[in-house]
Amino acid sequence: MELGAPLDRVEGWDKVAGRARYSGEQRVAGVCHAVAVQAEIAHGEVLAVDATAARAVPGVIDVLAYGDAPALADTSDFELAVLQSPRVAYRGQIVAAVVAETLEIARHAQRLVRVTYDELGHDVELTPDHPGLYRPEKISPDDPPDTGEGEETPAEVSVDVTYETPAFHNNPMEPHATLAVWEGDHLTLYDSTQGAAAQRDALAALLGMPAERVRVVAHHVGGGFGSKGVPPRPNSVLAALCARRVGRPVKLAVTRQQMFSITGYRTPTFQRMRIGASKDGRIADIEHHVIEQTSTAREFAEQSGVVTRMMYAARARRTTHRLARLDVPVNSWMRAPGECPGMYALESAMDELAEACGIDPVELRIRNEPERDPDSGNPFSSRRLVECLRLGAERFGWSSRPEPGTRREGRHLVGMGVAAATYPAAARPAQALARVADDGSFTVSIAAADIGTGARTALTQIAADALGVPVARVRVEIGDSALPYGPLAGGSMGNASWGWAVLRACEGLRDGIARYGGAEPGLECRADTSGEIKNQEAYARHSFGAQFAEVRVDVDSGEIRVPRMLGVFAAGRVMNARLARSQFVGGMVMGLGMALTEESRMDREFGDYLNHDLAQYHVPVNADVLGIDAIWLDDPDPHANPLGGKGIGEIGIVGAAAAIGNAVHNATGHRFRRLPISPPSVIPHLP
Ligand code: MOS
Repeated sequence: MELGAPLDRVEGWDKVAGRARYSGEQRVAGVCHAVAVQAEIAHGEVLAVDATAARAVPGVIDVLAYGDAPALADTSDFELAVLQSPRVAYRGQIVAAVVAETLEIARHAQRLVRVTYDELGHDVELTPDHPGLYRPEKISPDDPPDTGEGEETPAEVSVDVTYETPAFHNNPMEPHATLAVWEGDHLTLYDSTQGAAAQRDALAALLGMPAERVRVVAHHVGGGFGSKGVPPRPNSVLAALCARRVGRPVKLAVTRQQMFSITGYRTPTFQRMRIGASKDGRIADIEHHVIEQTSTAREFAEQSGVVTRMMYAARARRTTHRLARLDVPVNSWMRAPGECPGMYALESAMDELAEACGIDPVELRIRNEPERDPDSGNPFSSRRLVECLRLGAERFGWSSRPEPGTRREGRHLVGMGVAAATYPAAARPAQALARVADDGSFTVSIAAADIGTGARTALTQIAADALGVPVARVRVEIGDSALPYGPLAGGSMGNASWGWAVLRACEGLRDGIARYGGAEPGLECRADTSGEIKNQEAYARHSFGAQFAEVRVDVDSGEIRVPRMLGVFAAGRVMNARLARSQFVGGMVMGLGMALTEESRMDREFGDYLNHDLAQYHVPVNADVLGIDAIWLDDPDPHANPLGGKGIGEIGIVGAAAAIGNAVHNATGHRFRRLPISPPSVIPHLP
């Protein structure tokens, strides 16, 4: 029985020994290096690029800019139409590139490129009453911006509050890197991407090439969180253009600082929550009104209000999304886009409602469990939120939670908070090939992505289990668009999608072996899950969880420490206990950063995020992470997919910031409605 076992990562030794090659570490002969030149204005046009001094540096091979860069076939997405127009839509946009023999020469010459601009005024600040607010046609991924049902009725208890979250930036350990190699009219991109096949299709369309002439390889990816999703980021396009131009392989590694402008981030939000309830805490009306930003280069409408559509029972419900189009870098995916900021607002408001009703916050949520999905009317495939809340309350010692602002231990105010978590559980069509190798072992191929999650290991376990052989006899090949099609690692759908196809291919191969009478080398079976997925029954499929946090607030410094967090999840069948725990805990750590330290600060004058490195953008480090634990229910969901898994990459961050914020309220008696809850905001409210 391999499925569920806490197997070590199958590529673990390769990674710690340095044998695992990431995109920027691939070796090809004759490689040269490209460095992007970025716009120094937030809005306007490039007038001229003077590369005279840069070209004079020995070792500089070429400088590319608008007017002389190779043309792209599709320029409809301005963010990806790199060097195709003089327009500047945000500060940090790529306006030129230097290609040189070494990275050092390229970086030196980059600083010698003189760009002059026709500068227009910029508008980079999201405000709750921004005059340009509009209703997008759709919110991500493909949902209506507004929903409404039922009549509002006078409520005995009401909460009407607005929460504010700042911009957050993805900071995977490995910055984006691309190595572009042209051989004739065939392009190979070694690219740090969450989806080799989707990346290939996107690049082929941009370059006007058939997909067969583009290959994307991403054997190992050092984290993504959505920033390495599809559509591609402009750095990948630039690498392909530079390599085409100079006729040599080109390596382009995005710097940590550049990631703050060209690889995406989570929009800031203002979220107004209105909840009307009876005195016993039953919700009558609930409203969630979301205000977010998008760039002028490409629209991205983060779906923060969707959680209020499905989370709790209510007689009347309204959700809206409004965007302001600003002269800012392109915001996009970051771990649980929508659910993450949305559940911060909803679960904070639920805590406020619990207090207003005088009801325990765990009990309040249990009282508002819906029987069916309020949004679609469909039954939930499984919904074990109440069990998560009860088990978590018991394990965490919830009954010892103090009255707000009453527990002091030395210099610290101590409190506890809770929040629910949810994330959709979907799967996308995929293909896989399972084969008996020459030595009688098994090879399974699929263009899946392991972005550090352990997907390669989980797929190995799924294959071994389906074939009925030990994992040591199975080799899973992933991370290459030349393999059978797999969707990207995104939306917590990777493992369910790829695993399903791997399962079917291995089941088929096992049958084939039985029919043949032995595991003859060369026997193989291909599977494609599109038909099965299209014919899935109508269920509302979501994972659920309960987050608990204890905080200690220093009454002198305002510093908040989180000695304990516990996440209890019902997220379908777990394929590998060790890796699953790491996903849940990792998500919770990211939620800790969101609650207390992470914040991208916009500089109004220059029109850019000021704190664009890890010295100033504070992701949690080991010293910040004290006792974080995650447990889960044994929860195979037969309506999710044949494996019963629901996806675990994102739910860990959902609700974590609300649990901490609610704990800070419990500790201090003060409600903070803006993240992060940092010492300067806390100090004025301390005793
Ligand atoms: Mo995740 S934001 O769906 O890559």
